Amino acid sequence: MVSKAFIVGGLAAVATPALAVLDPTSGLPIPTLTKDFHLECDLNPKLGLGSGPGDTLWNWISFTGGVWNATWGNGTIELGGHDYQYVLPELAAKLDTRYLLKTSDATPAYIQIKTDGWRTGPPEVLRDLNDPVKADSVDPSLYKFRLYINMNTGDPRYNHVNTTMWVASGMRKGAKVIYDAYQIG
Ligand SMILES: *[C@@H]1O[C@H](CO)[C@@H](O)[C@H](O)[C@H]1NC(C)=O
Ligand SMILES: *[C@@H]1O[C@H](CO)[C@@H](O)[C@H](O)[C@H]1NC(C)=O
Ligand SMILES: *[C@@H]1O[C@H](CO)[C@@H](O)[C@H](O)[C@H]1NC(C)=O
Repeated sequence: MVSKAFIVGGLAAVATPALAVLDPTSGLPIPTLTKDFHLECDLNPKLGLGSGPGDTLWNWISFTGGVWNATWGNGTIELGGHDYQYVLPELAAKLDTRYLLKTSDATPAYIQIKTDGWRTGPPEVLRDLNDPVKADSVDPSLYKFRLYINMNTGDPRYNHVNTTMWVASGMRKGAKVIYDAYQIG
């Protein structure tokens, strides 16, 4: 019953959760996922930083550029972002990236993007992914590469990104990371 009031309130404010499906037990809206953008990021070869606590291996991978297009704009990736990742002994990788999107507007906006995620899967698949020769032919459905994404900008044209949340599904292809990001509704 409380939920109905929330829906009406939400409509007046932002007109998004109007048709939210409610959990029958709690009456809370069930989050939705809507495909929102596609991104392809170009990578430098990884630099191994040696071992960390508990047999982990640390890697630094810097980004040289890339492209993205979203339901709300498109553009390029600026030189200079990076992934600071650590690899567990069974080869699962924890990903932690930060980089800058530039929009294709005549006067571009800059949007900082941050992703956190895991690449997990059977050890033999992850081993192939770490092999520069075999990595390209690994089917992305054989491993799980998932990211949480958030963004920040001070540019008023894109201020909605500050409060939007996404999850993405990715793959490694050659010297690129490719992912589809889904907006959480
Ligand atoms: C991105 O661009 C491709 C073609 O260049 C298009 O197929 C796709 O729908 C676009 N995605 C979005 C979210 O606009
Ligand atoms: C990128 O956005 C511009 C408008 O700002 C549009 O003309 C162009 O088709 C878009 N490109 C893609 C690949 O979506
Ligand atoms: C969100 O966007 C506005 C610009 O419209 C900016 O002033 C504000 O600081 C941003 N908020 C955060 C949390 O980054």
